[in-house]
Amino acid sequence: MSETAWEQVANVDEFAGTDRVSVIIDDLPALIVKLEDQYFAIEDVCTHDGQPLTDGPIVENSIECPRHGARFDLKSGAALCMPATQPVQTFDVEVRDGAIFARPSNGDSSPSAPESSTVSAPPVTQLAAEGDTEQSSDATNEASGGPQEAPRVGDMLESLKKVVDPELFVNIVDLGLVYDITEDNNQVTVTMTLTSPSCPAGPQIVGQAREVIESLPGVTGAEIKLTMSPPWNPEMMTEDARDQLGIF
Ligand code: FES
Repeated sequence: MSETAWEQVANVDEFAGTDRVSVIIDDLPALIVKLEDQYFAIEDVCTHDGQPLTDGPIVENSIECPRHGARFDLKSGAALCMPATQPVQTFDVEVRDGAIFARPSNGDSSPSAPESSTVSAPPVTQLAAEGDTEQSSDATNEASGGPQEAPRVGDMLESLKKVVDPELFVNIVDLGLVYDITEDNNQVTVTMTLTSPSCPAGPQIVGQAREVIESLPGVTGAEIKLTMSPPWNPEMMTEDARDQLGIF
């Protein structure tokens, strides 16, 4: 496999007074983020709905999408919380004599010119939303005829798009009503909200959401928890939802 070339994308001097610099890496918009003495590089596009992460707050070792609050691990790119379920691309970073080099992280962990500070990001292949961390450790169960695994959070979220708000004719995922999905021992809990506390379609939406989740292979039961905290607002919708409603 050919090695992807390092390219100089920034200089350490550019971090005077800031913890991030916008760059282009491999033709992709990216952010170089400095945390203490380490530099991380992450694609500057939220996988939930395409929002730039540029101005997102840094929370511990993650960056938060300023639009709907998804967080991504700066090193691995893993999605740490909903509404994002897919990882963001990350890049290998090297600092050489004050110049910052980067390249796509492709699993090659042997940098060509190790210098004063190196951060290597692992391949971005794994869904890592909360509640989805036991997938790989149980991978042998299915092959050995053991209990069937519950679907991944991302797949459950995709299935919930079958549930459509009967007043707005937009699915509950793109409306931003689904706040969290967790799975424990094949029991799934969906935490979601409604567009208003008095939404007359609430019982129908909740019932359909439960049906959809319980119909998935590997799921033995589903609980739908309603919350009004935080309350829903139109900013939680995806671009698809806005397009469908024609309101922005
Ligand atoms: S969480 Fe980033 S666009 Fe929705």
